Amino acid sequence: MLSGKVALLTAAGSGIGRAVGLLMGGQGARVVVTDIDLAAAEKVATEIEANGGEAIALACNVAAEADVAGAVQAAVMRFGRLDILHNNAAYQGADLMEKDADIVSMEAEFWDRTMAINLRGSMFGCKYAIPKMLGGGGGAIINTASVNGLAGFLSMPAYGVSKAAVAMLTRNVAARYGREGIRCNAVAPSLVLTPAAERFLPEEVKRLHHDVALVPTLCSPAGIASVVGFLASDAAVFINGHILSVDGGAMSQLAINGPFRRYLEQAART
Ligand SMILES: NC(=O)c1ccc[n+]([C@@H]2O[C@H](COP(=O)([O-])OP(=O)(O)OC[C@H]3O[C@@H](n4cnc5c(N)ncnc54)[C@H](O)[C@@H]3O)[C@@H](O)[C@H]2O)c1
Repeated sequence: MLSGKVALLTAAGSGIGRAVGLLMGGQGARVVVTDIDLAAAEKVATEIEANGGEAIALACNVAAEADVAGAVQAAVMRFGRLDILHNNAAYQGADLMEKDADIVSMEAEFWDRTMAINLRGSMFGCKYAIPKMLGGGGGAIINTASVNGLAGFLSMPAYGVSKAAVAMLTRNVAARYGREGIRCNAVAPSLVLTPAAERFLPEEVKRLHHDVALVPTLCSPAGIASVVGFLASDAAVFINGHILSVDGGAMSQLAINGPFRRYLEQAART
């Protein structure tokens, strides 16, 4: 599906980004795997090549404008063009839950750090990729947003606001550049069972996510990657400015649906 295309991925050293790299490499794209952690990016590029694909790895901290500009430049130098950009990086430090607990206790430094990576990083990706894509006749940008940017949650306000802004960045780029051949869409996942989530997320929290999903299982990184790959492909030629929830239907229901299901189950038992 992606034969002949050149894809630049951010934060592709693990989790969703890695899965996108493996999928795109397997579908014939030449992949530029970037991550702040160069060793992780190199490992993914090696995996892509071991599967018969073509990839290079680069260090790129999306919060640093020069890094993003350099990664785009290096992609075009190596492969001659740029067709796909996956803006995927977000701040995921170990202190996220503690620092992003509440607006009242929010430290300005943490708020700014979140916006610098999650939002400004995606903006830099668009800023530098769009001129190259225009030069090649168009392209597809896919941003990783989140259901946390679509509805209120009692925690993670900085993360949620940054992802809501990523959704608007998506629509803005689509509105400005769609007629020049650049489609810009976003995926909005709910919980994805990345290796990090598997390791650190309490079982009870996984159970709560399972409870609100309208499908039998939680999502794997590959479940998001297949949607990103579709949005990047010519099969999605008429999809632009769209924020696609990849959440097992969680956002499609009344908030009372999960508790009501338990109420009915309880009633059936008594
Ligand atoms: N996992 C989930 O449940 C979930 C749900 C919704 C949205 N998302 C979003 O998906 C994206 C990927 O998340 P994931 O769970 O796959 O992450 P992950 O923790 O598995 O991997 C994150 C990667 O980002 C890299 N990274 C961190 N800071 C960076 C920076 N400044 N510049 C470049 N790379 C950086 C890390 O080195 C790491 O390789 C994020 O935007 C996240 O907000 C994840």
